[in-house]
Amino acid sequence: KSAPLIDTFKRSISYLRLSVTDRCDLRCSYCMPERMTFLPKKDVLTLEELHQLATGFIDRGVNKIRITGGEPLVRRDIVDLFDALGRRIGNGLDELTLTTNGTQLAEHADALATAGVRRVNVSLDTLDRERFARLTRRDALPLVLDGISAAKEAGLKVKINAVALKDVNEGELPDLIAWAHASGHDVTLIEVMPLGEIEEERLDQFLSLGIVKESLEQRWTLTESDHKTGGPARYFDIAETGGRLGLITPLTGNFCAGCNRLRVTATGQLYPCLGGAERVDLRAALRSDDAEGNLAKGLAQAMMIKPEKHDFRMDTRGAEPAQRRHMSMTGG
Ligand code: GTP
Ligand code: 5AD
Ligand code: SF4
Repeated sequence: KSAPLIDTFKRSISYLRLSVTDRCDLRCSYCMPERMTFLPKKDVLTLEELHQLATGFIDRGVNKIRITGGEPLVRRDIVDLFDALGRRIGNGLDELTLTTNGTQLAEHADALATAGVRRVNVSLDTLDRERFARLTRRDALPLVLDGISAAKEAGLKVKINAVALKDVNEGELPDLIAWAHASGHDVTLIEVMPLGEIEEERLDQFLSLGIVKESLEQRWTLTESDHKTGGPARYFDIAETGGRLGLITPLTGNFCAGCNRLRVTATGQLYPCLGGAERVDLRAALRSDDAEGNLAKGLAQAMMIKPEKHDFRMDTRGAEPAQRRHMSMTGG
């Protein structure tokens, strides 16, 4: 086993977010335009390559892998990757998990649980069917709710991720949290980040979670919790609902000092930071004659260029996105 991954700011990397496709069956308006251009399939890593890559990271001390997209469950045979990586749980891997929009979770929940997945994060921004259809441009709320129930029945712990959007789901957030907690799910709210061109003005969508927290505190008692998942959220317990609320505040409360993660796109591009343009081409390394050696070189380079923090800002109307690439490239 070779040296652990430590960057120039002495942060240890133990968490890999691995995107397996940039495709998605929804079109969330804060994530992508209706007419999104997807990558040609030939550019995307094969399941074998994804497995080889993930194994390479595990050998360097990564103990948590989150499979992301786009929507990971739209990739055919993806359960095979979960099965293969699931065999590393307890043997290098502590956690294998995914972030999904839930539309196909009902079909896959049992297989994921069998593979060794224990928790899933499901993206759900509203419980109102019409609002959901407007926001995601697809009338798929019933599918997502079925997916969440199926996951629970399969014994998976579900966490609901909701992007807080001004005037869109702002007024509904307390109900969404109350519903999730009553159903036994934690909730994490996320500040919208300026990634990729979309059809709307980012600033009009942005809602500071400081404001949301203040308004939640008018009705509930929030106490800071020491719960940690290895992700960027700060957690609070809500006394009245008995549930947990996570806040992810890239814009109003930078968490980069504690960053422990890297992300790799479906084409094998390693982005050391969600907010940066710099990347390392691991697909070229994988497809070279000396895959092992070049992978090690790529990871060493990633440790050198991982920035101290992202520089997302939300203060200028009409501003260019911080990065041209959409969230669906890096899976968040
Ligand atoms: P847990 O394991 O449950 O803590 O999950 P997580 O929060 O790490 O992952 P999830 O896929 O649920 O991501 C939730 C949100 O956090 C998404 O919007 C991600 O884009 C965002 N996020 C995750 N890591 C980072 C990061 O390093 N920087 C920024 N700015 N956002 C991140
Ligand atoms: N800003 C913040 N969160 C986003 N997501 C997608 N696009 C953005 C964005 N621009 C969220 C999804 C999902 C998670 C992986 O990232 O809703 O919950
Ligand atoms: Fe698909 Fe997730 Fe983007 Fe929505 S946020 S369009 S579900 S990738």
